Amino acid sequence: MSDGEDHETADADHAATAGDADRGDETVVRRDRFAGGPARSFLSSLSDDERIFAADLAVDRAHVVMLAEQEIIDRETAGEVLAALADVEDAGHGALPDGEDVHEAIESAVIERVGPDGGKMHTARSRNDEVAACIRYRLRADILDLVETVVGAREQLIEVARAERETVMPGYTHLQPAQPTTVAHWVLSYEQALQRDTARLLDAYERVNQNPLGSAAFAGTPFDVDRERTAELLGFAGVAENSMDASATRDFLAETTSAVATLATTLSGLAEDVVVMASKGHVDLDDDYASTSSIMPQKKNPDTLELVRGRTGDAVGGLNGLLTNLKGQPRAYNRDLQRAGRHAWDAIDSITESVAVAAGAVATADWPAETLEAAATDGFATATGVADLLAMAGVPFRTAHEVVAEAAAGLGPEEDAPDYETLSAVAEDVLGKPLSAYVDREALEAALDPTESVAMRDSRGGPAPDAVAEQVATAEDVLVADSGALDDRRQAVSQAADRRRTEVDRYV
Ligand code: ARG
Repeated sequence: MSDGEDHETADADHAATAGDADRGDETVVRRDRFAGGPARSFLSSLSDDERIFAADLAVDRAHVVMLAEQEIIDRETAGEVLAALADVEDAGHGALPDGEDVHEAIESAVIERVGPDGGKMHTARSRNDEVAACIRYRLRADILDLVETVVGAREQLIEVARAERETVMPGYTHLQPAQPTTVAHWVLSYEQALQRDTARLLDAYERVNQNPLGSAAFAGTPFDVDRERTAELLGFAGVAENSMDASATRDFLAETTSAVATLATTLSGLAEDVVVMASKGHVDLDDDYASTSSIMPQKKNPDTLELVRGRTGDAVGGLNGLLTNLKGQPRAYNRDLQRAGRHAWDAIDSITESVAVAAGAVATADWPAETLEAAATDGFATATGVADLLAMAGVPFRTAHEVVAEAAAGLGPEEDAPDYETLSAVAEDVLGKPLSAYVDREALEAALDPTESVAMRDSRGGPAPDAVAEQVATAEDVLVADSGALDDRRQAVSQAADRRRTEVDRYV
């Protein structure tokens, strides 16, 4: 613990200098003592922090405006600090002076420009609440970008569903032919999962979008800070209440990364399905989404989908790394946390790309209708429909299942369904009556036809084209609602940016 306390002392000393310009140099001396020595680069997160450079500037601005409004620092100093921040922003992350992290480096850059009074920027805060605010601020944007990509992907999948409502294909369980379905029904099954992935991300967003600023190191501050005001200036929907929790928690990162890992798992299934379909000639990928072999000239491989499948490891591994980092950390801040964010960033970057590529591959693919329809009867995949017919005629479903199972026994996976005569003989054997006592030939032949078989299954959510049309309509409604939710959040963020700019302009 003593290490952590040393850091906190450094921060506390630091804050104390704000009211006393003469002690500005001492801050530098004290920092020199803790410059890191041989562990300098090990301690530093400065290059990783490029990700939160812009976030830190926003957080600094909101904090400084609030400090001035609360008369914790004077307006003139606020103006000088805010002008310096604009200059630091123009120079960019690469021009920052050396520092343990972006927060320290930006502060040093401000002090370089303003003089010791620049150190007043860090009044009533610690890097602990500062970095937490930066991570939340940046993560918000990343979540929204990911949601936008997922919403776009859903739109593409819905388009495929609309076009392929009548395209019959084999459906599988255990990777074995099971029942005929359609490309539309299959693709909507993933669109539906992506709806939930979207909802999970938007839900996580609510808990990301809380303001930790004003918690200081963890124990609050004697200054009369206005936490609602910094929330408003940063577009946070609320204040992360307990200051110890607010500065220490990263559960919002875990929640977001978990949603990303779940999304990646959804995509991996989609990718695997397409890889298997491609291997059977059930889908023809656009060349843009395929790759060839450096030696086997005839090959057209579904590499993009394999990478989508493989990138699942980026997200699931990231979640694992993150939770392992967070596990067992005592309250309040510990430096372990400096290594937490990267897992979330890597996961979200990797999977945002995956979403777009997976959807692009599906949206541009060709679905060979004849091949798919022929494959849809492989392995007597219409068997359940025959049993259903018998059950509709009053035969207990279990008995109907036995009749059809008996007729199907010994059929190879590529073989066609047994014909009317064969089924009739088995029915007579098991039921004691000819098949015609239950089902006429026409109805049976319809059940054996994959297109008719699909059309019969028109229960809500089923594959029949009419049932799919309803699913498409619902999916479109949810898509519109989710796009609206996305726009609302983007608007809240950009309104806060406008508010910040307006306030900053009052001082500069
Ligand atoms: N770079 C640090 C991080 O990312 C900032 C907080 C440092 N706080 C401290 N008490 N050492 O977590």
